[in-house]
Order: sequence, then C-alpha cells, then structure tokens
Amino acid sequence: MRLKLMWRNYPGVIVTTLMILSLMPLAMKGETNEFLPGALWFDDHHVPINAHGGGILEDQGIYYWFGEHKIQGPAGNDAHVGVHVYSSRDLYHWQDQGIALKISHDPASDIAEGCILERPKVIHCPATGKYVMWFHLEPKGQGYGAARTGVAVADQPIGPFRFLGSFRPNAGAWPMNVPDDEKKPLTDAEKDRMTQSKFFGGTFPNFPTNLIFRRDCAGGQMSRDMTLFVDDDGSAYQIYSSEENSALQISKLSDDFLKPAGKYIRVFPGGFNEAPVMFKYKGKYYLITSGCTGWHPNAARLAVADSIWGPWKQLGNPCVGKGADQTFQGQSTCIFPVMGHPGQFIFMADRWHPEDAINGRYLWLPIQFNPSEPFISWLDHWNLGFFDK
Ligand code: GAL
Repeated sequence: MRLKLMWRNYPGVIVTTLMILSLMPLAMKGETNEFLPGALWFDDHHVPINAHGGGILEDQGIYYWFGEHKIQGPAGNDAHVGVHVYSSRDLYHWQDQGIALKISHDPASDIAEGCILERPKVIHCPATGKYVMWFHLEPKGQGYGAARTGVAVADQPIGPFRFLGSFRPNAGAWPMNVPDDEKKPLTDAEKDRMTQSKFFGGTFPNFPTNLIFRRDCAGGQMSRDMTLFVDDDGSAYQIYSSEENSALQISKLSDDFLKPAGKYIRVFPGGFNEAPVMFKYKGKYYLITSGCTGWHPNAARLAVADSIWGPWKQLGNPCVGKGADQTFQGQSTCIFPVMGHPGQFIFMADRWHPEDAINGRYLWLPIQFNPSEPFISWLDHWNLGFFDK
C-alpha cells in the first residue's frame, strides 16, 4: 500500500534510487558476505560503520561491535558523541544500534564532550547479569597525561550504559611479580630523577623503567591502551599500557567486573607495548601488541604464556608477507572467537586517519596457526568459509 502510494507520487525518485542501488558495489549496500579489509564497511542504513578502536562481545548468538564514534577532521580524535554499538548475527551485516554510552554535556563530568575516550570493550558479568564497559579515558584538556580507565554498566548489551567513574587501577597494590625489596615508595633522590624526566610515551636514554610503578603505587597505575579478557574459568582481566607506556600490566577484575581485584603483574618492563589484545588457544595465552608510535603503524608483536600470570615470552611479529612490517598499516584492537568455528579467531585492527578521524578503516583478518603458533597474513577479501579449509 505504502509502496503503491510512493510509486504514484514519486516514480522518478524510486527509479533513480533503484538505479543507484544497482550500480553500487555490494559491499556499499551492506549486502556482501565477505570481509574486505581496509574498504569502507556499511551498516544496515548504508552508512559507514563508525566504531573505531573497537571490540566484539558475543551474547546469546549475537555479536555486538562497540567502538569509538568519530567525527570528521582532527577534532574526531576527541570524543564528541560516545561509544557506538552495532549488532550482527553473521559478522558481515551490521545493524546500527545507536550510541551505547553517550558523552556528557556536563563540563564537570570525566566524560564531558571533548574528552579522549578510546578502545571501549564490553564483557558480560554472569555474577551480576550486567554488561560492563571499560575504556581508556583522558578527561578533557589534559592531553594523554591523566591515563585513566573509565567503567560503565548496562542491563542490555546495546545499553544505555551508565558511566560509573574513572580511576587509575590498582591504587595501593604492589605488582605480584616484583621482588619484595622493590615494593617501596620512591626515595627523595629517585623522586628528583623522576621530576627531571620528560615522559612523552616513548623511551629515552636512562629511562627509569623500574621506578614508575613505584611512583604510581599510592595513586594508581597509569592505564592507556587497553583490552579486557575473560578466561575459561570466568575470571576477567584488564590488560593495559602502563608506566608511561613502558610496561603492560595484566590486572584481575573483581567478581562484579567493576573494579580491579588488586592482583596484577608487570609484563615486558621497558618494552613499550600498546594496543594489547589477548586470546587463548589450546590452553596457552597469546598477546598481540604494537609498538608505541602513536597513530603511525609499526610491526605487531606476539607473546605467549602458559599462565596469564606469566612468565610471558616474546615470539616476534605474528604478521607475515607484504605489509607485515607495519601490521598492514593497522594497529590491533581486538581478537575474538568465531561462533560455530571452535578454535578460530578474527584479528581486528584499525587503520587510523587522525587528520580525518572518521575515515579510519577496519582490518579484519583470520588468525592462522602454523602448526600451533599464530600468524596473520593479508587477504584482499575472505569469508568465514576460510575456517572450513
Ligand atoms: C595510539 C593508540 C591509540 C591512540 C593514539 C594517540 O598508539 O593506540 O588508541 O591513543 O595512539 O596518539
């Protein structure tokens, strides 16, 4: 009836729309059954998916893709909208579910418009039934100096998420894997050395590798790029770049997943790792990270451990083939298991465009194993049939 009416009133518009749709490549119509790494990827409204630094939650047979909603231009590197969420049953077609966590219009809020809100990740807490979102938060006007974690909670995966607050994790707790004689505040001489150091997120001669976690013990550890990981036993962990980016920390979450449990380790002190992502395969824990070159791509790094508490061992660059030395121009953001394909995972990376943030692209590639060591190689296009081979 509606179509009949439209046909009577707007025949020209309908014909033109049908012609445009038939000329558009399938991917642009959101009708593709393929992954096209680096290409524009459209949602069910034919709008490019806007979920950068993203993460995937699988809940009751549905995938949810959460990510930073960016706007045009360099202003898009700050948060003006919030965390966008999309849903899908097949990983190819994504339904726009709107903004799961909105930035605040109260300038006094930690998540006020213009803050930096990056790498949101959502997990489901069986103990409380809630959906819990963690993200990297830099309150407005402080650059990347605050290095905080934000936490929000919702009753449904698509939200609305309620912002609970932000903090630096593990205040007052010492890492589990440092010798007892290092579990002490800085001496006056060490404090002087620290105030003379100019930290910029990278290394410099005589970098005070083992002083920063001691400096920060009382107030909480720095937390920038981050991910969440839920183990088979239901325990959840936050993995974050800490200590002026010089070390990663792996930190257990409380049973309600809302705060750190106070148990954490330092991983690769002095190693300068960012963009951590974690998965578990055949009983081993794998970590993929990037180096610290800001928005510019660099070579990914793979590490393995038999226990999440380490020891962690570096295995080198998991990417192989052309473009591997720069992670195919991308930076890791999530690795997630594929429903119906036990032991198979997809690697998600961002190809950043900081000069026009909204134009950042997504690289999705399958994790391959040789024979059990993970590797990633470029594919122009692929689909889930890849996992049946
Ligand atoms: C990257 C990081 C991004 C963003 C950017 C800012 O290394 O992974 O999430 O923080 O630096 O320069």
